[in-house]
Amino acid sequence: MSKPKILIARAVFPEVIARLEQHFEVESNQDDHTWSKAELIAHLQGKAGAFTTGGDRIDAEVLAACPELKICANMAVGYNNFDIDAMTAAGVLATNAPDVLTETTADFGFALLMATARRITESEHFLRAGQWTKWRYDMFAGADIHGSVLGILGMGRIGQGIAKRGAHGFGMKVIYHNRSRLDAALEAECQARYVGKDELLRTADHLVLVLPYSPASHHTIGAAELALMKPTATLVNIARGGIVDDAALAAALRNKTIAAAGLDVFEGEPSVHPDLLAVPNVVLTPHIASATMPTRLAMASLAADNLIAFFTGNKPLTPLNAAVLAIK
Ligand code: GLV
Repeated sequence: MSKPKILIARAVFPEVIARLEQHFEVESNQDDHTWSKAELIAHLQGKAGAFTTGGDRIDAEVLAACPELKICANMAVGYNNFDIDAMTAAGVLATNAPDVLTETTADFGFALLMATARRITESEHFLRAGQWTKWRYDMFAGADIHGSVLGILGMGRIGQGIAKRGAHGFGMKVIYHNRSRLDAALEAECQARYVGKDELLRTADHLVLVLPYSPASHHTIGAAELALMKPTATLVNIARGGIVDDAALAAALRNKTIAAAGLDVFEGEPSVHPDLLAVPNVVLTPHIASATMPTRLAMASLAADNLIAFFTGNKPLTPLNAAVLAIK
């Protein structure tokens, strides 16, 4: 029997491709071309499965043009690149890659928070530019992490990982806001107190965003929310571009409405709003929160496991629209 055909839409670990080749006829994109939607559709022709990353949009137009597609396995925990309703309607299974990246991403959230509050990249740029000629009492004086109030918006697994690091490692007082409140045992484990969104914004010394992107969370942080924050506060976004209004944030950083921001994700990335590039009090990283080699390999392997399970008649590990499986 011929093997099912799959497309790997972006470059990925050669060992993952080799494993997929044991089960599938694989077309891969090891040159890592950035395909337009039309090109993605062209490459998906005749494919029963797709290995996608967070930048590969699967929507009703793609689904209508690729009737043989049965599953898209995302190598990302976030899946706002998928139109889940359209996929379910088309009978296409969606899977993501949760859990395997939780601790790595929480580490990075904390690293970005520390770099932002302690002005690490800003001061490095100063040093590299040859501007360091003497000591000064307030040179790059930032905000303390230990003992401060850590606010977390979006208290899923990654948010909880950041809360634990803050509470247990740095003696921070943790407050959070989430669509649903954690149960008492989890709150105790994270030493986190549930508050309303306004209280979170007003009280946090450092606010970390870890909520999923959807049209409902678009511009959750805009000018009005930034105005509620302390002028000494830092804001960290490791969630998704679009959750923050980047133009409003750049203005708030310029006007010192808040002290500093650390951003790993951007509206319209890989483009970055030019106003953000023009302000010094922001740390900018290119969407690398989950980027350690072991974690990226685990994410790719989980996406591959989902494809293999699906086509060998087993239950995919991390389905997003399991209803599709029920009707198969
Ligand atoms: C990264 O942003 C992911 O969603 O895995």
